[in-house]
Amino acid sequence: MPGYEIFDNEERDAVNEIFDLNGGVLFAHGFDNIRKGIYKVREFEDAIRKKFNVPYAQAVSSCTAALRVALAAINIQKDDEVIIPSFTFVATAEAIIEAGAKVVVADIDESLNLCPSDFENAITKNTKAVVAVHMMSSPANMDRICEIATKYDLKVIEDAAWGVGATWKGRPLGTIGDIGCYSFDAGKCISTGEGGMIITHEIDFFEKCRAFHDHGHEYSSSFSRGEEGAIGAGFNFRMTELQAAVGIVQLKKLNRIIDSQRANKKYLKSILKDAGFPYHFRKHNDEDGDGGDALFFRLQSKNEAKLFVKQLKLKNIPTKNVPDAMRWHFTKYWKHIFEKSDLYNSNYGIVWKKSADILESSIALPILINSTKEDLDILSENLIKISKKI
Ligand SMILES: Cc1ncc(COP(=O)(O)O)c(C=O)c1O
Repeated sequence: MPGYEIFDNEERDAVNEIFDLNGGVLFAHGFDNIRKGIYKVREFEDAIRKKFNVPYAQAVSSCTAALRVALAAINIQKDDEVIIPSFTFVATAEAIIEAGAKVVVADIDESLNLCPSDFENAITKNTKAVVAVHMMSSPANMDRICEIATKYDLKVIEDAAWGVGATWKGRPLGTIGDIGCYSFDAGKCISTGEGGMIITHEIDFFEKCRAFHDHGHEYSSSFSRGEEGAIGAGFNFRMTELQAAVGIVQLKKLNRIIDSQRANKKYLKSILKDAGFPYHFRKHNDEDGDGGDALFFRLQSKNEAKLFVKQLKLKNIPTKNVPDAMRWHFTKYWKHIFEKSDLYNSNYGIVWKKSADILESSIALPILINSTKEDLDILSENLIKISKKI
């Protein structure tokens, strides 16, 4: 769950330092004579590069922006098709629409991530890329997705909005495809309020991302910012020094965050299993790599899930996105997006039955960093009681 759970004086001091020490420069560039050599955005990018062992990182204003910039970097054009899974946040689709391209939706499987065979079936001659979403910190099947992408010569963007610190077979999510995108928004594992990062191994993608996120600036070392040329049109998706200052501190806490989430989730699962909890947990493509953001379980039917949620509400136990925010996370509810698209009444329709069967009978509970064993024991007792009641 969110890095804000463990905000403390370190984040506060990092922000104050900008005002106290470097003259309140909030812009990532310029002001060289008053900022006393403090460049927080650059420092945050360096820290991300080191942490995830990638040569290139570009900070941006959000993960939505990161996705849009990544699509520009791989040269997505009008009428190109980009495949996404049916279970993601609406931003994944919005970025594609902003790029002028077509969103094609493929079903998820029991992992709640993109089903590789449905992905392959959705490929047409116009498909240029796939966005592999690591939904709620559990890795998509990157081996199969990359294999299929290579076969059809598609680019792979990883939407690792939830995936910071989680892994696929030991490799950090976001570092496996062509370009990875992170979110640091208010609800994410590490938080800068709003913020995002793009990471890649390819200098060409990096240079395009860097330019596109900042009005096309070519980032020449020979000219001042005002004098330098542009490599094309872009937009303003820049991160501020304030966000980066918080991000640097939060990144140092990442191991602690992931370790606590994983430990809390493992403990909750084990006590539920021991107490005979009758439902199946989410199937992971790589259970060890799961960042532990949420605990999913699947009931027998949509109706049973509804009854369970009613009981959770009576006990003030929160759910996480499923089902409370399905409107934003399941393509079935995105009529407002698809009704203007050619794909609206196509073979893929708006129903995505396989996904609906899985999602509508599932419930997700948030896993917190700060939960104690006692909190989890009480939660488990309540879940068992509810399961016996319905
Ligand atoms: C899968 C996914 N992609 C993208 C985003 C967008 O992230 P941001 O809020 O940083 O724009 C989110 C946000 O929740 C998300 O869940």
